[in-house]
Amino acid sequence: MLKPGEYVRDLLESEPGRRVTARGWVKTRRDSKGLHFVQLNDGSCFRDLQVVIEAGVVPEADLAAVTTGACVEVDGEIVASPAAGQRVELRGTAVRVLGPADPATYPLQKKGHSFEFLREIAHLRSRSNTFGAVFRVRSALSFAIHRFFQERGFVYVHTPIITASDCEGAGSLFGVTTLDLSNVPRTKDGKVDYSQDFFGKPTYLTVSGQLEGEAFALAFSNIYTFGPTFRAENSNTPRHLAEFWMVEPEMAFCDLADDMKIAEEFLKYVIGYALEHCREDLEFFNQRIEKTVISTLEHVVNSPFEHLTYTEAIRLLENANRTWEFPVHFGADLQSEHERYLTEEKIGRPVIVTDYPKEIKAFYMRDNDDGRTVRAMDVLAPRIGEIIGGSQREERLDVLREKIRAHGLNEASYSWYLDLRRFGSVPHAGFGLGLERLLMYVTGMKNIRDVIPFARTPGSAEF
Ligand code: 4AD
Ligand code: MG
Repeated sequence: MLKPGEYVRDLLESEPGRRVTARGWVKTRRDSKGLHFVQLNDGSCFRDLQVVIEAGVVPEADLAAVTTGACVEVDGEIVASPAAGQRVELRGTAVRVLGPADPATYPLQKKGHSFEFLREIAHLRSRSNTFGAVFRVRSALSFAIHRFFQERGFVYVHTPIITASDCEGAGSLFGVTTLDLSNVPRTKDGKVDYSQDFFGKPTYLTVSGQLEGEAFALAFSNIYTFGPTFRAENSNTPRHLAEFWMVEPEMAFCDLADDMKIAEEFLKYVIGYALEHCREDLEFFNQRIEKTVISTLEHVVNSPFEHLTYTEAIRLLENANRTWEFPVHFGADLQSEHERYLTEEKIGRPVIVTDYPKEIKAFYMRDNDDGRTVRAMDVLAPRIGEIIGGSQREERLDVLREKIRAHGLNEASYSWYLDLRRFGSVPHAGFGLGLERLLMYVTGMKNIRDVIPFARTPGSAEF
């Protein structure tokens, strides 16, 4: 196991004269003028360690299997590097190939591969520059998310993955069953007999931990949940996954204004964290993926988010003088084209849209007094569109019951959720951030399949 001080990252920081053993996978190897050059990477940082071996120092037989993709161990001495672009390199004196990689069949070659091709070899793509950077940033952002909430006294709660309640009420659920699908038990009236199923009733993979999160917020005041969520929407877009990771804070004693404030502070914090701690990786994205990614992030951290009500947003879209694929009118859901117009063309930075019509938002959002809108807020970001969705929750028992009915949901299955309004209810609010949407924003990567290790999308669940 590599210990701190032994990673390539640390070797690159060490002083000439240090004797070390470097371990990692060979990015490339070339031989010229009596020297063997090996680029070695262990995933700890963007840069490779350059290993230089003089001809004759190491037996030819030991070198033969040092080819792209092989896992190797090299003993040697850190020396000042005569080459540009690196302070030090490793002068190798012994090489052991721990795991060879047949050059004839190793699929990840030096030439640039398309992201589509790399998705097919997702078990190997993390060894490439781009995906090494993506997944280091993913790890750093996840840590920053925990740190933000932990520093503010939020309790981390593990909400269930298997659930009987449909949080968003959108009907895009994956069922969880152990029933024999080729011989489904039926009730007398021909319906599926779920009483014979594992849990004795229909269950699903969760679309959101929010409802259970609310139960914890009404005990711990400030909580967050951070885990995988599942949506069976058949949307084959660059922004949708069937399995994605969501961060959901929930705060008691909190209204919509406070909710928006903490969402903005949170986004700025985690982006600031990436700017500070992932500089090398971000510089790569800036050069190779999206020319403006760093300046955009710096701008986001340093300027206040814009605020618009839904009604104002609709007016801006109506006055935009263009033909929308999805027509705009009060009551229409904002589509990607609308979100991008508002953030990219009209405003040029993140914008928080509030007070959506109640018909297009979930049952749990608090009604405004106008009778038409709810205290919802979506944070829209340039390039990405919706990155955060949140709201103040309906804390009044009678109003919430009425809303459950109006949304065509079964009150009995929300009885525990209604209990939270029966016993010690309080104004509370929260939001959900899709980790992969955030990663797309921070890295400039264009397809959400390229910021999650192994993507699950309609028709595709490899690995
Ligand atoms: O807006 P959504 O559906 O909100 C909720 O689930 C609430 N329960 C959150 C809350 O208030 N606690 O989803 C929240 C975020 C979206 O803004 C988006 O970033 C992400 O989750 N998201 C997806 N990301 C990838 N693929 C999908 N299919 C996504 N659906 C939502
Ligand atoms: Mg939403």
